[in-house]
Amino acid sequence: MGQPLKRVLSLPGPESTGDLARQLVNALPAKPRGWVILLQGELGSGKSTLARAMLRSLGHEGSVPSPTYTLVEPYEFPEFSVYHIDLYRIADPEELEFLGWSDLSEGLRLIEWPERIPGLNELGDIVVRLSYDGSGRAAELAGLSDRGALLVAGLPA
Ligand SMILES: Nc1ncnc2c1ncn2[C@@H]1O[C@H](COP(=O)(O)OP(=O)(O)OP(=O)(O)O)[C@@H](O)[C@H]1O
Ligand SMILES: [Mg+2]
Repeated sequence: MGQPLKRVLSLPGPESTGDLARQLVNALPAKPRGWVILLQGELGSGKSTLARAMLRSLGHEGSVPSPTYTLVEPYEFPEFSVYHIDLYRIADPEELEFLGWSDLSEGLRLIEWPERIPGLNELGDIVVRLSYDGSGRAAELAGLSDRGALLVAGLPA
């Protein structure tokens, strides 16, 4: 585990959540296979907004439906896959197997409500904790793996 470095950012409007998404995409490897980004924060704090903006920044041009009911929405890029995952409705970790969870590990996983599954932190590279801050949001970023900690430390100030 690297240094427990944290970054705190103010996100006054959805467009600043989009800026953060672009920074994260720019900092990830060109083929972010196997990376896991945990998106925490209460209902409406902007987790899907961040995931959607990351997908757009990666070059996805179509719609980005919420995975609230499907649990996983896959996106195929020429050289890697992205899985947008929402665990809000998961009651039991065993349900993950019905999702084909073990097949998702090759892609970049963007996971909303990771706290629904105990132990998911150990799998993560980066956690983004979003919270309400006036009419905007605040984000706290931390690395969970060595490579995640390096990425967070290298984000623009
Ligand atoms: N930085 C921001 N400032 C103000 N509003 C924002 C910001 N980021 C996102 N929002 C708005 O918050 C609302 C909810 O966003 P979003 O659906 O992304 O939340 P969520 O965390 O995914 O919620 P859920 O837990 O239901 O999945 C949207 O209307 C979005 O435009
Ligand atoms: Mg959401």
